[in-house]
Amino acid sequence: MPLSRFDFPEGFLFGAATAAYQIEGSRFGGCGPCHWDTFAATPGNVLRADDGATACDHIHHWPADLDLLRAANMDAYRFSTSWARVMPDGATVNPEGLAFYDRLVDGMLERGLKPFQTLYHWELPSALADKGGWTNRDTCHRFADFAETITRRLGDRVASIATINEPWCVAWLSHFLGHHAPGLRDIRAAARAMHHILLAHGLAVERLRGMGQPNLGIVLNFDYCQPASDTAQDVQAAARADGIFNRWFIEAITRRSYPDIVLEGLAPHMPANWQDDMALIGQPLDWLGINYYTRHIQQHVPGAPWPATRDVTGPLPKTQMDWEIYPDGLHHFLTRMARDYVGDLPLYVTENGMANADHPDIPDTIREDFLFAHLAATKRAIADGANVRGFFYWSLLDNYEWAFGYEKRFGLVHVDFTTLKRTPKTSYHALARALARND
Ligand code: NOJ
Repeated sequence: MPLSRFDFPEGFLFGAATAAYQIEGSRFGGCGPCHWDTFAATPGNVLRADDGATACDHIHHWPADLDLLRAANMDAYRFSTSWARVMPDGATVNPEGLAFYDRLVDGMLERGLKPFQTLYHWELPSALADKGGWTNRDTCHRFADFAETITRRLGDRVASIATINEPWCVAWLSHFLGHHAPGLRDIRAAARAMHHILLAHGLAVERLRGMGQPNLGIVLNFDYCQPASDTAQDVQAAARADGIFNRWFIEAITRRSYPDIVLEGLAPHMPANWQDDMALIGQPLDWLGINYYTRHIQQHVPGAPWPATRDVTGPLPKTQMDWEIYPDGLHHFLTRMARDYVGDLPLYVTENGMANADHPDIPDTIREDFLFAHLAATKRAIADGANVRGFFYWSLLDNYEWAFGYEKRFGLVHVDFTTLKRTPKTSYHALARALARND
């Protein structure tokens, strides 16, 4: 018997997640250029140089897309509001952008869907990227201004606001590993971004709290880090990777400090007087979002510069992203967050999902299995004391998977990127059955 909503506590919210640049179509509605447009236009960065100019054209299909959420018996929708759409030059407001989000939020409420808004899901306006983006402290203040502007318009109707989506990706993946915009491979830029993204979070929380806005949180991504062997070197390498991925952000927020195992490498590159920002960064939150996809096996790389780790291929079955399927990792992070960091604070699984080479006529039973295995892991974490209040599948639609362009399909709903036709997959129907309310 597969799980259903009745296996979860009363009031547990089920939903799906998306993000603005990945679905909307940035060439419409007066949206400004962002650093992803530039990154995608530079050869070698993104598969087939795909960008988000049209994406799923959600800006013209949003009523039907919200109907899909409703028809799957979902309770909530996690979406993001694009900074570049609301403030095309990073400062001046685009009334058409605000009006779009106004209609979108009203559309959710009309369908009984709770709006879970994310403020920054990566479309940094080019005007701010040109001034150094997240390596420039001023960007944090501009972000707080954006947070205030959009919240003045939507704050009376959204159920929850997340400041930043996946700060590890914004900072480390984008400034040290170079896989995402702006594509830097620079430890000094990375250290600055690792701190500034948290400062931006702190400034936005301060601003929104000052406006009386409730239900503020942040969405962190976690990746289960296991040593490739039991040698001391590999165990240490896994601990360093765990520090960068899984400890840096949550310890700044809940303990107002950074882990020593990461400062070992980053301290010489941090912005001056970073310690003075920690109280602002560590303000109390109303909830914590957890994005979880996979585990990574870590190996020490002798002679390499810090952090001297590399991922090695693990033995478990993998998704189209080549990510191992490891549901126990979700249980691990939900219980670890509750035990070590946040106690009884409400937790949400804000993203979990898998890419698969789907075709609309072929059942995606692999995704059904993935989804229900991770729902079962969530249920076990609740039984073990974690205060988990909701689960959002990534993603409602196949969409722009960043450096992988449109090739990797994460959706419950198939999108034909030529005709833009939406076709619900079998996983969508399975979830809709599990969420039926019997009334
Ligand atoms: C996390 C990100 O928030 C989202 O934008 C991305 O598409 C998924 N992971 C899958 O990689």
